[in-house]
Amino acid sequence: MALITWTAEQYGTHVGFADQEHQTLFGLLNKLYDDATGGAARSTIGASLDALIAYVVDHFAHEEQEMQAAGFSGYDKHKAEHEALVGICADLQKKFHAGEADVTDEVGQMVKNWLDSHIPTFDKAYSAVLK
Ligand code: FEO
Repeated sequence: MALITWTAEQYGTHVGFADQEHQTLFGLLNKLYDDATGGAARSTIGASLDALIAYVVDHFAHEEQEMQAAGFSGYDKHKAEHEALVGICADLQKKFHAGEADVTDEVGQMVKNWLDSHIPTFDKAYSAVLK
């Protein structure tokens, strides 16, 4: 069962590129979660983890570029939020590939909770400026 399902009501920002990228991101998170909790090979889980993190980094960069271009006043706080998650992800990625950590149900829930908090508060805040 999918960990997270995109709905316009819960996650819609009214900014086309963001809504599209969030849906792709959710798909990659669901794939990782299914692999990690469904007994997939460690190499498969690692590939899914790398794909998700690479996409998250690209998505954050895209949002930051658009916010800066629009002169959005919430840029600094928003970027700090992004950097905090990227730091957690980079640490997990390094430990996973060193055999020192696993992708667990708790990891999936942590990322879901972060998105549940971040998108409705931080991402929706740029809606009026970027749409
Ligand atoms: Fe869509 Fe600010 O992350």
